[in-house]
Amino acid sequence: MPLQQDGRLGNIVTPNRIVMAPLGRARNSDPGREPVLRSVTYYVQRASAGLIISEATHVSASSVSRPGTGAIHSISQVAAWKKVTDAVHAAQGRIFQQLFHLGRKADPDRLGGALPIAPSAIAAIGEISGIAGPKPFPVPCALASDEIPEIIQQFQAAAINAHAAGFDGIELHAANGFLIDQFLRDSANQRSDDYGGSVANRARLLLEIVDDAIAIFGAGGVGVRVSPHATQDGLNDSNPAALYSHVARELSARGIGYLHLIEPDSIPEANKLLPALRPIFAGPLILAGEFNQGSAEAAIADGRADYVAFGRLFIANPDLVERFRLGAPLNVPDPATFYSGGDAGYIDYPTLSQQDTAQASQ
Ligand SMILES: Cc1cc2nc3c(=O)[nH]c(=O)nc-3n(C[C@H](O)[C@H](O)[C@H](O)COP(=O)(O)O)c2cc1C
Repeated sequence: MPLQQDGRLGNIVTPNRIVMAPLGRARNSDPGREPVLRSVTYYVQRASAGLIISEATHVSASSVSRPGTGAIHSISQVAAWKKVTDAVHAAQGRIFQQLFHLGRKADPDRLGGALPIAPSAIAAIGEISGIAGPKPFPVPCALASDEIPEIIQQFQAAAINAHAAGFDGIELHAANGFLIDQFLRDSANQRSDDYGGSVANRARLLLEIVDDAIAIFGAGGVGVRVSPHATQDGLNDSNPAALYSHVARELSARGIGYLHLIEPDSIPEANKLLPALRPIFAGPLILAGEFNQGSAEAAIADGRADYVAFGRLFIANPDLVERFRLGAPLNVPDPATFYSGGDAGYIDYPTLSQQDTAQASQ
């Protein structure tokens, strides 16, 4: 069973190849954006994962979305996350923190009326979940060249905080249309300075943030998540193969802990980037997107991936590792409770042994 093999992922040794994908669940305190006791329970329940990657966590107060999203830019947020990491480690688990900045997807009403920042003044396509309901994404304010160091510094400060909070490493969220992704792809980045234009320039922000994070965690404590096929905000690139090959080459040269690629099996073979990226990136590769046990076992067995990340299956199955090991049936995730707050759909999905006990008492 390839998924149950142990392995090494950057700085950590893992008892299996099953990664809990980053999952924002909107359960943090409001307005503090700190994990509370139920989040400690939630992560501990899933500590048998080879690696837990935390929900996306804001690096600064200029990155603000719906209430309940976590953040790591204050002393009390660090203290709250320390309770999560201590509890996961006590349960023999491993946990990286995913760091992100919303960029153009932040909500002006939650920024005191200020416009969100972005590489260029180009709005995301779609709607923001605003205070008074859905509304179109705003046209953001393009960062001036001399404002970019402050953004890099925000990520650096967040990485220092993540380290202080006891995380085993960080994953930089360069996927799903957030700020780093907005810099990477040329439909959102039309800058003419050192951070726009060529592939090398568009990757510069990511790589400078990576270099700072390496100085804090060591290369093995840094992962990067990319999503070349995520186009839901109107984000696109004119030459994804060239862009992501450059990114993979540069990350490989730095020896980072892992590259995390979202590329579902359902992407047409001709559009897949994995065949090009796998030989370029020398370190461990985590593959994500719509995997089940069978497709994940196949991806590892035939060498396409070293690890597979599961999102929705981990929401519904705290003991996913055990269920895979036994070939047991899986609980079905309920999208209505993904972001609903509270315990329901968060910490009340039963483990196999809880189901057995419940059946025995009937
Ligand atoms: C409720 C929910 C929250 C998510 N939050 C994040 C997040 O914080 N960061 C991230 O990179 N991806 C996030 N994703 C995407 C997942 O990590 C994963 O890539 C996606 O669910 C596809 O994997 P799956 O088919 O195994 O669920 C989220 C997905 C869901 C369903």
